[in-house]
Amino acid sequence: MNFCAIDFGTSNSAIAIEADSGMRLVPLEGEQLTMPTAVFYCTDADDLPPAALPGPGGDDTLPRCFGRAAVQAYIDGYEGRLMRSMKSVLGTALIDQTTEVGQGLGVRYLDIVTGYLRHLRNQAEKAGGQPLKQVVLGRPVYFVDDEPERDAAAQASLEAAARAVGFADIAFQFEPIAAAFDFEQHCTQEEHVLVADIGGGTSDFSVVRVGPERARRTERRDDILANHGIHIAGTDFDRHLSLARIMPMLGLGGFGPSVLGQPPRPVPSRVYFDLTTWHLINTVYQPSRVAELRNMVEFYGEPAHHRRLMKVVSERLGHALVGRAEAAKIAVAEGGATDIDLGLIEAGLHNGLDADQADQALRADLERIVACARDTVQQAGLKPEQLGALYFTGGSTGLKLLTDALQAAFPGARAVRGDRLASVATGLGLYAKRLFTA
Ligand SMILES: Nc1ncnc2c1ncn2[C@@H]1O[C@H](COP(=O)(O)OP(=O)(O)OP(=O)(O)O)[C@@H](O)[C@H]1O
Ligand SMILES: [Mg+2]
Repeated sequence: MNFCAIDFGTSNSAIAIEADSGMRLVPLEGEQLTMPTAVFYCTDADDLPPAALPGPGGDDTLPRCFGRAAVQAYIDGYEGRLMRSMKSVLGTALIDQTTEVGQGLGVRYLDIVTGYLRHLRNQAEKAGGQPLKQVVLGRPVYFVDDEPERDAAAQASLEAAARAVGFADIAFQFEPIAAAFDFEQHCTQEEHVLVADIGGGTSDFSVVRVGPERARRTERRDDILANHGIHIAGTDFDRHLSLARIMPMLGLGGFGPSVLGQPPRPVPSRVYFDLTTWHLINTVYQPSRVAELRNMVEFYGEPAHHRRLMKVVSERLGHALVGRAEAAKIAVAEGGATDIDLGLIEAGLHNGLDADQADQALRADLERIVACARDTVQQAGLKPEQLGALYFTGGSTGLKLLTDALQAAFPGARAVRGDRLASVATGLGLYAKRLFTA
């Protein structure tokens, strides 16, 4: 009994270990079975957040907080840097690079991933009371779209991180296949299911043949009829919402002053794209970039826009604004119209977001996601009406617009909702048990 399964997600992660009957998810923060994929590196040793843990040693000594505590340390204004969406760095050139966390201190991206996996393993070893040597790691269908070499490099980096943490035996399974195994536990007949796992970083689809009898088999290769995915999901929705409802308050879409006889020039837009993309936000804070932006004041017909932009840049509010966009998206999904409070930029500044505006911002992405789902079913050699069930998992399936669009594409399939945040980890656990106890 020394194996486990890890769902290392773009936004949330979980780890499963063996239990008396089957597998169970390990409590990661208090009773919570999933935890934000977030690390806060603390750079002021004399003023540490209460949840700070020491670094493991060697080259990696900075104290840090994980999960909700990491986000809280950031909100509370402790000195240091919050890292999120680390998974999206896998397969990019950044993974071997060092990023500054403050006070001239740097951390290698791969070490951030390693440190996070180590924390998950520590929590699971504490809960299970035994050292864990074998692991199944979930992986998206594609870490990187349309680039097999970079995709392979992404998996190799994740494997290297798992090895550095102390896992000796490492296997991978596709995240949506894992979700299908979770679905199958409650399945009463043999059928084809299309799993839609719409998370933070990727929208993944699989067509799997499931059934009570098949669930007992260890070899399932023939039951996996198709696997497909696209790199568009929750964090892209946040970016679009921010570009539609927050960045215009900072000048996006605006124009420069009209100079006699000349049509006004549009405000250059690149900074707004960088400010809404997690791993690019810090590039906007580089001193040379800040100076360049300061000099661009004459591009702005509305001086308040430039003033707000400079406030965001000089006070490093980019990550906080992405957080506002995400919170607004979830608020609208759960309860209709909301107000985005931007008082951190300027007293009294705010903008509304209603369901129509949110739908509008998501529409372009939506079509590509539904097209990916249709392609997956086609690759499986099935007609849409041959699907028995449509299984929804991943946080972004909280968006009714998205699940409605998928249901409309497969009207004959029964829609089933899984545990949005835990289904993949549960399924990876079931697979780990079959693999390591076979
Ligand atoms: N109620 C909700 N409505 C809409 N979106 C939501 C809701 N709750 C969470 N989300 C979004 O779900 C995403 C996180 O989902 P999840 O935890 O499944 O992703 P992940 O597994 O970390 O990512 P990935 O599988 O892509 O690596 C985030 O973008 C979050 O904003
Ligand atoms: Mg996921």
